[in-house]
Amino acid sequence: MQRIAPALREDKVPLDLISLIKTILAATKEISFRVGQGQLSDVLGSTLDENIQGEVQKQLDVVANQLFKDITLESGFVKAISSEEEDTSVAGNENGKYIVSFDPLDGSSNIEINSLIGTIFSIMEAPEGMSADNPDLFKQPGTAQVCAGYVLYGPSTMLALTTGAGTHFYTLDKTHGSYMLTERNVQISPETSEFAINMSNQRFWQAPMQNYINDLVAGSDGPRERNFNMRWIAAMVGDVHRVLVRGGIFTYPADNRNPNKPNKLRLMYEANPMSFLVEQAGGLSVTSEGRIMEIQPTDIHQRVEVILGAKNEVEKCLSYYK
Ligand code: AHG
Ligand code: MN
Ligand code: MN
Ligand code: MN
Repeated sequence: MQRIAPALREDKVPLDLISLIKTILAATKEISFRVGQGQLSDVLGSTLDENIQGEVQKQLDVVANQLFKDITLESGFVKAISSEEEDTSVAGNENGKYIVSFDPLDGSSNIEINSLIGTIFSIMEAPEGMSADNPDLFKQPGTAQVCAGYVLYGPSTMLALTTGAGTHFYTLDKTHGSYMLTERNVQISPETSEFAINMSNQRFWQAPMQNYINDLVAGSDGPRERNFNMRWIAAMVGDVHRVLVRGGIFTYPADNRNPNKPNKLRLMYEANPMSFLVEQAGGLSVTSEGRIMEIQPTDIHQRVEVILGAKNEVEKCLSYYK
């Protein structure tokens, strides 16, 4: 089994980017340790604060965010960071080559039930001629990502990572503290009979999504002429990991629960990095209107509809919108 740094060197990843990835992974090892300690570590439970999304922050959201922020900004490689838990972008080294966006703790509602949670991150190069405190540094489409990954704090701690040369899985060896390459070039099968969606929102979806899911649920008696299984982990890291491992389609569609907020997932630190990983594994990641990674961002916290996973199934879903 190979450690992560030599594996990345084999993929011709530049040395400064390898160093930045190792820096980010150092933070995930600490989070993994604290998560593993559970109630012994005094980081479970809620704070009294809300983030800019209007969500009550869990202690682990705050602790993980602080860790990521400190470790990336101290590294020297990073010009600025943006995070789900920060109102605006935060300036780092004026000469840093990279910018990092992250969801420090994904699946916050799973913390207290000792279920799947993770961290998602996305790395781009800082555009020339902008100062470190300029939030416009981040207004680049997902196609500009040079690296994306998530770490899943499950029964084992796993990393899915891409630098544009395929999507690879690594597993944290907790005795030595190294991420070891455990699966190269993960591939999502184009066909599937499994879907992931929060069904409780069905009445709020647009008609095309209602029709598509109705046809899946109709099973072998319906137009799809076969039965579909459903899963929902309520942490995007867990749902996307399942799609990468055994296939499937995952969607958080637009809905009309709140007219000012039709979408739930965030473009910069949820949808874009997951899209890069999924595309590098042969899957698709789109909104009902087009490829997610081609969206020109206008705001660090903007939200986006997400339909991702098995190529043929995503295309089938999109055909309902035509
Ligand atoms: P976060 O915990 O970082 O705020 O993200 C939660 C997101 C995502 O991980 C998950 O897919 C979705 O919220 C779950 O939404 P529901 O609560 O509607 O199931
Ligand atoms: Mn949140
Ligand atoms: Mn999240
Ligand atoms: Mn989060």
